[in-house]
Parts: sequence; structure tokens; C-alpha cells
Amino acid sequence: MLTAGPTYEPIDPVRFIGNHSTGKMGFALAEAFADAGADVTLVSGPVNLKTLHPQIHTVSVMTADEMFAEVQQYAAEANIWVFAAAVADYKPKQAAATKIKKDSDSFSIELVKNVDIAATLGKQKKPGQFAVGFALETNNELAHAQQKLQKKNLDMVILNSLQDAGAGFKHDTNKISIVERDKITNFELKAKTAVAQDIVRTIIERMYA
Ligand code: CTP
Repeated sequence: MLTAGPTYEPIDPVRFIGNHSTGKMGFALAEAFADAGADVTLVSGPVNLKTLHPQIHTVSVMTADEMFAEVQQYAAEANIWVFAAAVADYKPKQAAATKIKKDSDSFSIELVKNVDIAATLGKQKKPGQFAVGFALETNNELAHAQQKLQKKNLDMVILNSLQDAGAGFKHDTNKISIVERDKITNFELKAKTAVAQDIVRTIIERMYA
């Protein structure tokens, strides 16, 4: 089971809070898992991507709450969880029912924290299940990635540094490090499809070693 893409958190019927995630990394991973023989459930936020792979079941969602509800349906049965979605950390406390008019010179929105899907699932993880998260950091990358392993009960964190040219959002390439409790593996800059194969190979090695 994978999550992918951004989430959109509604402000009113025509506006939302979102981010620049394209979903490319999550979709590339879903295809790499399916090519390796897995039956994949891909829970994706709004993206411009499609996969026709017969072994991938795609579930489309909009908000973090919707993504969480779908993930809860599939998590218990899945033996690998990959949290590749860029979930919005906060959502408007209340979405307006009608379009907000520009009546005043300033305007604020009260935001409340979204559910942390990876961390909540981490608490339900059973022996034999393997959880992978992503971290996109600008500073103290390794320390933050290691904290995320602990905090969210993950077995692996895929670390993208914003300091690497060609990595992260909006690129077809990515440069990652795989951070585990006792090990760090650095990879070269490569196409997201090749990065996905590296990640899938490493997960399979750890699960079936
Ligand atoms: N994640 C999630 N649900 C959220 C937020 C994050 O499932 N509400 C997952 C992401 O898919 C990713 C991992 O958690 O795999 C790391 O997310 P990130 O937002 O970078 O980390 P946080 O722990 O939320 O910390 P911060 O934003 O403060 O760096």
C-alpha cells in the first residue's frame, strides 16, 4: 500500500491549501512494486498521473482525512506501507460553505493539525509489516530522518535533500539516501523510475533477507 501526491485542504468551494507534489515518486514506486510482482493499492491525492498497470488499484482522494480513511481500509492486509504523499500538515479549521468575498483588507484562516497518517499507522504496525516514510529536509537532514524513524515507527526513511540540484518536487530525477536504524545508504542522482527500483530492491532485501 502506498500513499502519493499532495492533499488539498478546502478553504471554500473554490480554494484550497496544497503543495507542489506531483506524485511522480509515489507512482514510480507503485509501478516498480507491481513490476516486482506485488499487488499494489495506491492511495493518491490530486495528480495529473495515471497508471494502467493491471496490478495497481488506484484510489483517488482529495484531503488528508480522506486519504487516512482509505489507508485504514487497506493497511491491515498490506505487508508493505510506503508513505510517499506530501500530506498537508494543517487544514482550515472550517471550510466556508460559500465562496469567500474580498470584503476586508486582511484575512486570516485558522488552521488545525491534520492527522499524521504514517505515525497513526505506525502505532498499528504488526510484526512482519514494513513501513517506509519520506523526509524532505533543508537542514540537519540525517538527524531529522532518524527522528522520523523513531517517531513514526518506520523501518526506513527515504531522505531527499533540498540542497541537491535536480532532487525533489518538480523534477524527473531524484537523489536519495535510505536511512535505517543501523545503516545509511547513499544513491546517485537518477531518474525517479530508477530511484523507485533501488527503493523496492532494498525493501525486498530487508524483508526477505
Ligand atoms: N506524513 C503522513 N501524514 C502527515 C504528514 C506526513 O503520512 N500528516 C508522512 C509523509 O508521507 C512522509 C513522512 O510522514 O512519509 C514525513 O513527513 P514530514 O511532513 O516531512 O514530516 P513531519 O514528521 O510531519 O515533520 P515536519 O513536517 O515537522 O518536518
